[in-house]
Amino acid sequence: MELGFTIMRRYLFAAIVICVCCPLVQAHAETEPPIEQKVEQLLNKMSLAEKIGQTNLRGRSSRAKGPLPDSLKATVRAGNVGAFLNVMKPDERDELQRIAVEESRLGIPLLFGRDVIHGFKTIFPIPLGLAASWQPELAESGARVSAIEATELGVNWTFAPMMDIARDPRWGRIAESFGEDPVLTSAFSVAMVKGFQTDDLSNPTAMAATAKHLVGYGAAEGGRDYNTAMIPEGELRDVYLKPFKAAADAGVASMMTSFNELNGVPATGNKFVLTDILRGEWQYDGMVVSDWDSVIEMIAHGYAADKKQAAERAANAGLDMEMTSDTYELYLAELIKQGKVNDAQLDNLVRNILRMKFRLNLFDHPQRRKVEKSTILSAEHRQLAQQAAVQSAILLKNDGALPLTSQGKIALIGPLANAAHEQMGTWVFDGRAENNITMLDAMQQQLGKQNVLFADGLAYSRVKVQDGFAAAIEAAKRADRIVFVGGEESILSGEAHSRADISLPGAQEALIKELAKLNKPLILVVMAGRPITLGNIINDVDAVLFNFHPGTMAGPAISDLLLGKVSPSGRLPVTFPITAAQAPIYYNHKNTGRPANDKDYVPIDDIPVQAWQSSLGNDSHYLDIGFRPAYPFGYGLTYSTFDYSNLKLDKTSLNMDGKLHASATITNTGKREASEVVQLYIQDVVGDVTRPVRELKDWQKITLQPGQSQTVTFTLGTDQLAFHNISMQNVTEPGDFNLWIAPNAASGLQTSFKVIE
Ligand code: NOJ
Repeated sequence: MELGFTIMRRYLFAAIVICVCCPLVQAHAETEPPIEQKVEQLLNKMSLAEKIGQTNLRGRSSRAKGPLPDSLKATVRAGNVGAFLNVMKPDERDELQRIAVEESRLGIPLLFGRDVIHGFKTIFPIPLGLAASWQPELAESGARVSAIEATELGVNWTFAPMMDIARDPRWGRIAESFGEDPVLTSAFSVAMVKGFQTDDLSNPTAMAATAKHLVGYGAAEGGRDYNTAMIPEGELRDVYLKPFKAAADAGVASMMTSFNELNGVPATGNKFVLTDILRGEWQYDGMVVSDWDSVIEMIAHGYAADKKQAAERAANAGLDMEMTSDTYELYLAELIKQGKVNDAQLDNLVRNILRMKFRLNLFDHPQRRKVEKSTILSAEHRQLAQQAAVQSAILLKNDGALPLTSQGKIALIGPLANAAHEQMGTWVFDGRAENNITMLDAMQQQLGKQNVLFADGLAYSRVKVQDGFAAAIEAAKRADRIVFVGGEESILSGEAHSRADISLPGAQEALIKELAKLNKPLILVVMAGRPITLGNIINDVDAVLFNFHPGTMAGPAISDLLLGKVSPSGRLPVTFPITAAQAPIYYNHKNTGRPANDKDYVPIDDIPVQAWQSSLGNDSHYLDIGFRPAYPFGYGLTYSTFDYSNLKLDKTSLNMDGKLHASATITNTGKREASEVVQLYIQDVVGDVTRPVRELKDWQKITLQPGQSQTVTFTLGTDQLAFHNISMQNVTEPGDFNLWIAPNAASGLQTSFKVIE
């Protein structure tokens, strides 16, 4: 955390400078009207066309070349654009902003949005990887770095963090999620918002964040992107909306609606979510933007007959700004004239947009901040990215092959061993391969070129032809140990990149099997954008170090882990299935009336021929693969071992507004310093609405020396036990609860307590 603190210290210094100048600031504050007043004053001056102009988020292709067209400049001058996304060049942003501020009638500054998802130029692990660290503070420092780099070049609004709950590893956008758990996702979402925005959006290095996608996008049927989501209201509120509420409470500047329909109504035209919940229940006063063309996609959804009706539905649902499509621009004036959208509603939309611009202090400082010396890709930023990558790696298997000793030669094989672009993962617009350090670079640097024999064997992850096998096997023969670095290229996860088969693509499994025949220690390093099913090769390898695409510093981070300079400490933020056919799969499922169990389960090969229909345990399992995942949520090994003992509660019954303390002793029983993520789960045994078999409530990541013990104590309040009952009230019900302090969602020490009325 040292570097994170350095960054925080810098801002403390800025705060001190501001305090020293306090009298000045105060004098200014006294004369400055509050933001709401400024919004109203400006709104009163605006023509209908200027109001509609503010709702227009104009897209540029992320690959647009050539100078800014004059027609675009004229549109800005006329006040017909409120924001841009994907303006590539900083001086183009400067020029458009200058025109908006100096040449448009009211001088309203523009927002410049960009997908700064897991880094700007310095690329951090993909969000699923950050979540695997179980250290939200790392995500916060990473988001801070991203905001510092992006604001230096004039980006003032990012479309992140994505906080969709993802229970299906086939869905390509699981890469951008923080996994399947609402509590873990909420913690990371809030951390990212704080990192992007700081506590004060008017800070020159603050970048407005976007909570996306509102809502239910991760529940797409079959993991097929953009697909239908059907989510009962209680689950919507307790699982899918939870991170959005946490982000709203943390002051997230904006939210983005999702592409999917939710229970029959497209999210972009969903008044229940956008107005009743967001503005009514939550009193959210940030800005809501559509996703790319999601307003006109309501036509394909079958919710609007044409563009005009799409605009009407979206505006009346409470959508403030339209991304890329032009239905507001073309039809809002007419809809207002016809009384289909009223003036007051348009004013509401525009108010939310202006408020965000005032909060960002764009009226006083429209142009990008001036820097004496660029910090983009600084050593400090890269160090932080490396630290995040180290903390995000998950050791799934180790028969003793890891850590590697530094003696002898290593054969480095596989399509991701030297793939500087692919190690960055999805949603990278500004990161560049030439700034990255690969496994090959790092291992050669650490062990000497002569000790690292490299042959990729497969030029990229999907290659099926086996032309490169011979060279790879030859290199492996000359080495003492083999490290195979495989997984998925960046392009195989992310938006629209769902996969039905989530095993290692191409001929990777075949190459691993060939290498295994050499009977040398074989270590598999994976870099991927989703859980990968490893069942076909797991017995061929001696160890597996799994990384969700780790970013710029993948090489040094992974070689430090392989060489034992630090012990792996990531834990799974999603359940890893045996096969994609188990999806959706998540630990916090319901019990069913016939829960699967070992006693009743009869594997397919043990079924007698012509067995009587009911002779098999009639439980909720698959005949061929049983009922367990490959690795449960929360799972991860390290180079040491931990023992859990002495589970204690300070009380076994608590009142409705009470708190209990649960503790356990964790002992490092191995030979190395290592970290453990100690997890607290509960189960509400009987509910007005049935409850999940386990729910994560809290966790602590601790580091222990060999032989060292630590008592870990959690405080659990009854408010953490609440859920939406059948009448949609958020209540804690009296009754029995189970509680676990555990290393993952499938094991741990268990006890129970009661909540009494
Ligand atoms: C579509 C994606 O769904 C969204 O997440 C992204 O921010 C926008 N495009 C803008 O690129």
